[in-house]
Amino acid sequence: MKYFISFLLIFFSVSVLASSFYSKLLKEAALKNNFKQISVVNKKFDKKKSSLGKKFFHDTMLSFNSDMSCGTCHLTKFSSADGLPNAVGVGGEGEGIDRMFSDGEIVPRNTLPLWGRGSKDFNTLFWDGKITQVDGEIISQLGLLTKNYASMDNEYEIIQDFYQDPLISAVHLPFVEIRELVADDEEVTEVLKKESIDTAMNVFYDLTERIKKDSDYTKEIKEIYNLEVDQIEFFVVADAIAHFIRDEFAIKETIFSDFVFNDGKLNDDAIRGGLLFYGKAKCSSCHSGTLFSDLDFHSIPYPQVGFGKNGFGVDYGRFNVTYDPDDLYKFRTPPLINVEFTKPYSHSGSVFDLKEAIRYHFDPLKNLDLQNISDLERVEMYKKLKISGQNINQIPYLDENELDQLVEFLKTLSFK
Ligand code: HEC
Ligand code: HEC
Repeated sequence: MKYFISFLLIFFSVSVLASSFYSKLLKEAALKNNFKQISVVNKKFDKKKSSLGKKFFHDTMLSFNSDMSCGTCHLTKFSSADGLPNAVGVGGEGEGIDRMFSDGEIVPRNTLPLWGRGSKDFNTLFWDGKITQVDGEIISQLGLLTKNYASMDNEYEIIQDFYQDPLISAVHLPFVEIRELVADDEEVTEVLKKESIDTAMNVFYDLTERIKKDSDYTKEIKEIYNLEVDQIEFFVVADAIAHFIRDEFAIKETIFSDFVFNDGKLNDDAIRGGLLFYGKAKCSSCHSGTLFSDLDFHSIPYPQVGFGKNGFGVDYGRFNVTYDPDDLYKFRTPPLINVEFTKPYSHSGSVFDLKEAIRYHFDPLKNLDLQNISDLERVEMYKKLKISGQNINQIPYLDENELDQLVEFLKTLSFK
């Protein structure tokens, strides 16, 4: 009996030692991969501007057809996304799954959550990076947007923020995105489709006029921005919403950050999953930093569902922005904060299960019903496989147990 007790004691102390050894390794791996304290990453915001931005975010008056708002697709109950494979825009009714059965126009991408999108150095926005900041300069499809403002005869202080903050540019885009907040009817969109800066400016102008007629808004804008009614421009809306995003969707302490920087505990599977993530499985070569994204573009052979940005079940991803054939089928690495709650996954929302979302990175054929997919889908898959071949090869085979451990780890990236 005595021997048995000593054996038990030794056994437990060895396993406690091993577990604290693995904990230490994981903390070191995270720090080496640029994982920082939450407080260092979040950007400052102004509480009053944020509270005005919150009103704009939820105001249907600010959609061209007055039937929806940012909050229709970025919902608290779906962790700032909408729970749908593809977003349902103008004309849709209800929230979440209800929208799929309404007559709304389909936006051919999966709604991105907003966590950390207002943080420092978050310089690449949207699945295809249609807003980027390179060497300080903001590049967008409305390329002339910043320059247009620059040439405007004014000296507003917030213009400075606009030059420096890609989020403010990003917030402009949904307002002029066909199907998202502008109906796909010929009259309005023929010109918008050409991505004419003038038409976008006309939409912004029209929306600004609506604000100018609302005495509650004009009073608040005067108070916060010190602008008279005739001085109000659309960037006030974008700036206030950007402050709201920085506030409402700031990164908070996660189970993992609490583990790395405080004395938070992880279970053994999460620790092993974390070591896989930073080690053998090489996830951190793309999902790096505090938000778990290198903000760069890669191709992962996810199946495409829905109409696709390029129509008929095709989405060329980054290529749509650069027209560089090397960018075909590449998408910005998605950040993984709260990933447990932001399903479905991938740019087209084609995967509902977190474990399978990981598996597609190295075994994309496992879940494909090769008998029942269309010829086009199969041909598209061949192309993606060729382009993502290197990425697939980089990740070794992971067995079910390892995949479960990775999922356990990803769950620690949720807020505490
Ligand atoms: C119809 C649903 C819908 C509405 C309405 C909507 N969004 Fe989105 N949002 C999306 C989708 C879909 C994406 C991903 C689009 C893409 O990347 O091509 C997205 C992406 C974003 C992003 C980029 C996030 C990232 O990770 O880069 C921001 C910021 C954003 N939306 C803010 C807003 C704001 C602000 C409004 C209101 C002006 C708004 N959205 C209205 C569906 C919507
Ligand atoms: C070569 C870069 C790269 C590597 C390595 C990589 N990923 Fe990804 N990951 C991506 C990209 C890019 C996407 C989005 C692709 C798309 O939507 O078409 C993605 C998507 C995901 C998603 C879905 C997230 C969402 O919100 O849609 C999860 C989860 C994920 N990766 C986890 C992992 C894990 C775990 C590993 C390690 C086994 C890993 N990734 C390795 C680039 C990478």
